[in-house]
Amino acid sequence: MKIAVIGAGFVGSTTAQRLIERNLGEVVLYDIVEGLPQGKALDMMESAPILGFESRVVGTNDPKDLSGSALVVVTSGIARQPGMSRDDLLERNAGIVASVADHLREQAPQAIVIVVTNPVDILTHLTAVKVGTPKERILGMGGILDSSRFRHFIAMELGVAQADVDAMVLGGHGDDMLPLPRFATVNGVSIEALLSQEQIEKLVARTRDGGAEIVRHLKKGSAYYAPAAAITQMVESIVRDQRRLLPCSAWCSGQYGITGQFVGVPVILGREGVEKIVELPLSAAEMKELHTSSAHVASKIAQLQIAG
Ligand code: LAC
Repeated sequence: MKIAVIGAGFVGSTTAQRLIERNLGEVVLYDIVEGLPQGKALDMMESAPILGFESRVVGTNDPKDLSGSALVVVTSGIARQPGMSRDDLLERNAGIVASVADHLREQAPQAIVIVVTNPVDILTHLTAVKVGTPKERILGMGGILDSSRFRHFIAMELGVAQADVDAMVLGGHGDDMLPLPRFATVNGVSIEALLSQEQIEKLVARTRDGGAEIVRHLKKGSAYYAPAAAITQMVESIVRDQRRLLPCSAWCSGQYGITGQFVGVPVILGREGVEKIVELPLSAAEMKELHTSSAHVASKIAQLQIAG
């Protein structure tokens, strides 16, 4: 399967690396900067004899090379600097993603699209409208990353194996995202039985701040190792038709009382994209928080004046 990764920055190139190392497909790494995707792709391919993967990656600056992609991952855009929220990137990144969407409409209108560029829920909407992608074939990456951060913090707090911790973070991938302690478990045991309310609140707050915490460390950019892992999990679920239940930004048409917008919800992800949105039995308070978060996303979409 041909997979296009748009943007050869840290997120795009790390994603390409993870995809080929897991033999998930033939990767085209596209960027407008001459030499950048070519150099990174060649460097990755020179690791193949050592690592033994069979997939290939090629770098290109020619949008025509995106033609025939079955799956596209959009990572292009500028990253956050310390003190910025994801929303602060909207104007700059909307222009960049709009031009990517023009290429996709021409070269790969049938592709399943995973949007990563922030603010992700809003730019997923923009891409869907501009490319005309059927809504079940386009998703934004956010919830898996936020959930992985929550899982990591829970595992650290309890001193248990990371793989034993499961959690869900819903809502927009922004400051008002919704970590759900009621649905977080350690091998089936609710974290509410293992941690105090105060501990849980601390972990929830750190999860909401997870992206900004990395930006404060890096000073000149944002996270990419965990984002690339989250993207790879989405790609793998689609390519291998795993039908995993994962939180992603998906088009809601009435689910959770949200209509006509992308927001983070649990979906079953398979070969055709979003096979189903799963509706969790949220409490009134959780539902209210989800609606606050989705209303925030809706207000930013209105600001961009992109209906659809
Ligand atoms: C983060 C960026 C990818 O959360 O939004 O690190």
